[in-house]
Amino acid sequence: MIDQLGYLAFEVSDLAVWESFATGVLGLEVVRRWDGGFALRNDGHAQRFVVTAGPSDDLAAIGWQIRDEATLEALVARLRGAGQDVREASGDEAAARQVVRLFVLHDPSGIRTELFFGPSRAEAPFRSPLVPSGFVADEQGLGHLVISATDHEATRHFYCDLLGFRLSDRIVCEFYGYPVDITFLHVNERHHSLAFGGRQDKRLHHFLLEVKSLDDVGAALDRATGAGVRIAQMLGRHPNDRMISFYAHTPSGFQFEYGCGGRLVDDAVWQPTVHDRVSEWGHHPPERYVTRRKRPEASGEKP
Ligand SMILES: [Fe+2]
Repeated sequence: MIDQLGYLAFEVSDLAVWESFATGVLGLEVVRRWDGGFALRNDGHAQRFVVTAGPSDDLAAIGWQIRDEATLEALVARLRGAGQDVREASGDEAAARQVVRLFVLHDPSGIRTELFFGPSRAEAPFRSPLVPSGFVADEQGLGHLVISATDHEATRHFYCDLLGFRLSDRIVCEFYGYPVDITFLHVNERHHSLAFGGRQDKRLHHFLLEVKSLDDVGAALDRATGAGVRIAQMLGRHPNDRMISFYAHTPSGFQFEYGCGGRLVDDAVWQPTVHDRVSEWGHHPPERYVTRRKRPEASGEKP
């Protein structure tokens, strides 16, 4: 019943730093500003990110796009029938999200979940000199996100049984001493629009932006490094969505993933599996790489 990940809302403590990060590192476009916030886009939607000032430095809301009003009403009826507290947003709230109609509820972790139809479209195609290949978005949604969720069964029930997400796969393993158990869900052909698992420092572990060329991933890594952004995981490829990507910290502390080459899911033949590793190669923290080693003759050591 859900078509795609429509938008993300972030609450950030430093709007100015966030704006220069979003435009100068991520390559997103500011589409409007107001007192206490701004909106960004990465494709033909009028806006894909709503960034407002506040102390939490975390995810404020997830917007899920439904294809039409009848489907949205049917989904809301199903949610209310299952005992969910669903509120219809005011016209002003819908206008701020640049959508026609909007309903609000909360997922089992307390994450504000917004269901809408009728997003405004941008007047001009998205183009950025920083991302010549462009973003993989539009029908696939803005990207994906991975959220904190401590109650696996309640979270699975909410997203799969009530909202209609479909299981892509799961990764269960250990990563540098930390237990990993992440469940990946899709709503369209993008391998996952949402993944959840474990207790994270923030509601949002990371959001993904996918570009259409590896060169644009490398250029983003250069921009992040040049801007002093803290890299969390260097380039690598995931076994499940096949994305080649890197991870780094946003000014709010939660991370972003920047990648290319994500695989598509065909529900007619897709078989969910469990993977036993996070990455086929790479994705190591940068401190695991030897970045500087004195030549033996320079240090006086024997070779
Ligand atoms: Fe990701």
